[in-house]
Amino acid sequence: MDKFIIRGGKKLSGEVSVSGAKNASLALMPAALLASGVSKLNNTPQLNDVYTMMKLLKELGVKPKFENDILELDTKNITSQVAPYEHVKKMRASVYVLGPLTSRFGYAKVSLPGGCAWGPRPINLHLEALKKMGAEIDLVEGYIIAKSKRLQGAKINFDVSSVGATGNTLMAASLAKGTTVINNAAMEPEISNLAEFLIKMGAKIEGAGTSTLSIEGVDELNAAGINTIADRIEAGTLLIAAAMTNGEITLKGISDFLISSILAKLEDSGCKIEINSSNISLKSSGNFIKPINVTTSIFPGFPTDMQAQWTAYMSVADGVSYVTDTIYLDRFKHVPELVRLGADIRVNENTAVIKGVNKLKGAKVMSTDLRASASLVLAGLAAEGTTEVLRVYHLDRGYQRIEEKLKSLGADIERAAGAEY
Ligand code: EPU
Repeated sequence: MDKFIIRGGKKLSGEVSVSGAKNASLALMPAALLASGVSKLNNTPQLNDVYTMMKLLKELGVKPKFENDILELDTKNITSQVAPYEHVKKMRASVYVLGPLTSRFGYAKVSLPGGCAWGPRPINLHLEALKKMGAEIDLVEGYIIAKSKRLQGAKINFDVSSVGATGNTLMAASLAKGTTVINNAAMEPEISNLAEFLIKMGAKIEGAGTSTLSIEGVDELNAAGINTIADRIEAGTLLIAAAMTNGEITLKGISDFLISSILAKLEDSGCKIEINSSNISLKSSGNFIKPINVTTSIFPGFPTDMQAQWTAYMSVADGVSYVTDTIYLDRFKHVPELVRLGADIRVNENTAVIKGVNKLKGAKVMSTDLRASASLVLAGLAAEGTTEVLRVYHLDRGYQRIEEKLKSLGADIERAAGAEY
């Protein structure tokens, strides 16, 4: 298993491009199943979750061709509607094939995802929506089996705003008979990107980006092309890397709309932000980092996927801050590892109470999940001495060669293969 060796304390500076959004790609790729033909997904990031989804789609008969950042998916010969445990257990987003398969083929057999590094992360809302649209859902030997004649439009009121359930329902409803209305729909930009793709495929969708989606089902969809939006979490992670190392960087290829809540908090902490069309520059606040509280919430609020990174940032702030996660109440596995680097953090229910310290100190730390490992890399960049971040396969799931991007900005970071951990 690879690890990162980071010799901290280097100021980051320079320009870097933001890759396509992992969580957009993971929805766009299964959406291609709704049509027969070759769909073209531009700006697809080269990261492990995308490769996992590609393997799963291949298993269903899709022929992928991935060159540079253009992913073509040929769905002319779908031979299976089964998403096996081997794939789904690796990545919960595999459940995104459920909606399209049920809607286009009237049958899907998808493994239940099972446990996760934090949780619980149920999929009840995905299933309830499909049931409301007329699917018969059974649970057999750890698999969800969905059967239906043509799905029927329905009124879906989600109790909780869910990215995955909205995406799955949106895809299913696009080929259903009649109109589906989704209330309390997720407003995340990755869902708007999915809606944009479906519309290009011929779907009739109104309200993308708002909490009410109205979908008039069509008989058939066609393969299409789409530009994947920029990854707002990669962008936020890189900005914090600069903020924590007294640095100054420019991100290329991301609209401030995607990260306005992160930019606002960075400004509050003392950073200077400049926005120039699709370039965003950050100059760190220097040696004084103002402690700033955050509470995660749905878009456009502060994302849970940036909670661990913000916690790392605040661990070197000049005072006490509180970081509360309202989306995932126990997503704090990074905290004991940050403490190994000298951070002073206590978790009280779903709030991390962070007393900023003067300096973090290098140590060996263990990644437990994707965003936790990102927070450890950030802490390592700011720490004195050498930090080893073990098990970076978690990080590789969701960041496209982050060590190369960080190196290009002046970080002293290397990947070492074959570590014993
Ligand atoms: N929820 C339910 N029932 C459901 C579905 C969700 O109660 O059927 C609850 C969850 O327990 C959670 C809340 O709804 O409390 C929101 O979960 P959501 O369904 O929105 O999450 P998701 O679709 O499983 C996506 C991202 C996650 C990100 C969350 C929240 C993808 C592939 N994943 O997950 O990304 O944390 O939205 O924004 O889009 C990551 O990239 O590190 C990551 C975990």
